[in-house]
Amino acid sequence: MRTHYCSEVNESHIDQEVTVCGWANSYRDHGGIIFIDLRDNDEVVQLVCDPTYETPYKEAEKVRDEFVLIATGKVRARGEGLENPKLKTGKIEIVVTDLVIENRSKPLPYTLGDKSVNEEIRLKYRYLDLRQKEAYNTFKIRSKAAMAARKVLDANNFLEVETPILTKSTPEGARDYLVPSRVHNGEFYALPQSPQLFKQLLMVGGFDRYFQIAKCFRDEDLRADRQPEFTQIDVELSFCDQEQVIKVAEDMIQGIFNECGYPEVKPPFTRMSHYEAMEKYGSDKPDLRFAMPMVEVIDLFEDSNNDIFKNIAKDKAHNRIKALKVDGGDNHFSRKDLKELENYVRKFGAKGLAYIQMKAEGPKGPLVKFLSEESLATLLERVELKEGDVVFFGAGHKKEVLDYMGRLRLEIGRQMDLIDKDALNFLWVVDFPMFEVEEGKVKALHHPFTMPKDTNKEHIEDIESVAFDIVLNGVELGGGSMRIHKPDVQEEVFNLLGIGEEEAQEKFGFLLEALNFGAPPHGGFALGFDRLIMLLTKRDNIRDVIAFPKTQRASCVLTEAPSPVDKEQLKELALRIRKIEQ
Ligand code: AMO
Repeated sequence: MRTHYCSEVNESHIDQEVTVCGWANSYRDHGGIIFIDLRDNDEVVQLVCDPTYETPYKEAEKVRDEFVLIATGKVRARGEGLENPKLKTGKIEIVVTDLVIENRSKPLPYTLGDKSVNEEIRLKYRYLDLRQKEAYNTFKIRSKAAMAARKVLDANNFLEVETPILTKSTPEGARDYLVPSRVHNGEFYALPQSPQLFKQLLMVGGFDRYFQIAKCFRDEDLRADRQPEFTQIDVELSFCDQEQVIKVAEDMIQGIFNECGYPEVKPPFTRMSHYEAMEKYGSDKPDLRFAMPMVEVIDLFEDSNNDIFKNIAKDKAHNRIKALKVDGGDNHFSRKDLKELENYVRKFGAKGLAYIQMKAEGPKGPLVKFLSEESLATLLERVELKEGDVVFFGAGHKKEVLDYMGRLRLEIGRQMDLIDKDALNFLWVVDFPMFEVEEGKVKALHHPFTMPKDTNKEHIEDIESVAFDIVLNGVELGGGSMRIHKPDVQEEVFNLLGIGEEEAQEKFGFLLEALNFGAPPHGGFALGFDRLIMLLTKRDNIRDVIAFPKTQRASCVLTEAPSPVDKEQLKELALRIRKIEQ
């Protein structure tokens, strides 16, 4: 229908006839001349309808916002002073000789681009939101990124293979989405939380190098960077070690970022052990766009005259006393700010927030009197406290202290504007522990198919695994590991996880069996594709980069899913809905 996209029409077409198609972005009647801004997927061009051409002028009088138009006309230069430098097409306009109203539009439920509109309403009319240039550009980058990933993987002999959506549970740690079977009444498929087990089976199948841009489903609490249905770039390779897996991931990330306008992204990326990340930044995904590491000072409280601190300092295996020094913090934070920071950490389990301010006359704060003169001197030296600085302290059980002090570091980074919004800070966190113990229950930190290092350790939490995460600007972008390829090791890990033989057979019998038929050494990773696009396009919410996302309550307000189903359908599935009293 068109000869040109709106964005393509420019001064080189002056005096030529063009046909453009799109939506009426705006409409202005300037007493006898009608101006219409016509918009297609990514640009706007100005149409001029004057009574010289009577038929199109009459049509133009009927046009309203978002009507679908096909316009033919002659390109001319805009008059002196009427150019619009903000538009690619700002120097020209099209004098319309033929105008077809291809479709009408009801008045829109909200003004496109109005950010104050409730998100549920925008999601209900998501297709209207998508009409905007900003959305189009986001999805253009998403498409480009997927192409770039495919290009790198294809060049490295990876085969794109699809794996089932109707399958059995894969233990990635979230709740499954279940699909009842009509043929096998009372039985359920699970939607895959990831293609983890199938990609391992493809390695046993001898495919050597696999990838897939895969849909994954996890029924978990949603956050700004989590959706129940999301996409991974999923990769697996055989006869490799951790270094090769990391190299593939780095090449792919470089390919994507370079292609999408960031030529400065160049691996190898920095690495940090999980231990260091936790101890210094209180997170397994530290944001290193600013420094401010925590410093351990538990030893300096051994001789404290305060019983609480002294007792904490007695158990160095389970407790921590962390100091977080903030350059210029005393000059920056008022008493009220300090109180608010304390309230902030209390939300995450802190009992309080002690601090020492460095004044011209010396250190000041409630903690000063709890330390011996010698310990205080060592502390000030260790954290390098200067006049105008403040140092915060977190003391107590290791897990809690690391968590709230890590959050405090980020909050201070935000409040003091220490984060460079343009930086792209990639970091590999390596040497993850294999297990974590939560409320006495042993869990796999990545998943139970991760290769452990030495399992002969006194404490189960000291066993490390060959697992690694890639972090970008404090967001976990992806994770991977070397896998267990020997059945006896897999059984040992199931044992350590408290998964008995019977349960292992029932849940993963097919994998254990496959490992018995010559499974090669293998490893791989998955990148969260939506998160990657979110960071690449500098958006704060994952919903902005998913065409049809779910709300915070996991529903699709556009299609109204989930929704009740017919009695007939339930009968076929042998299901009956019973309301459970809350
Ligand atoms: P993992 O569970 O770490 O690993 O997932 C990999 C990456 O997927 C993204 N991700 C999500 N993105 C949006 N919404 C969610 N609900 C969500 N959950 C995860 C994250 C995450 O880093 N099978 C392993 C990978 C492997 O070992 O090969 C796996 O799925 O960016």
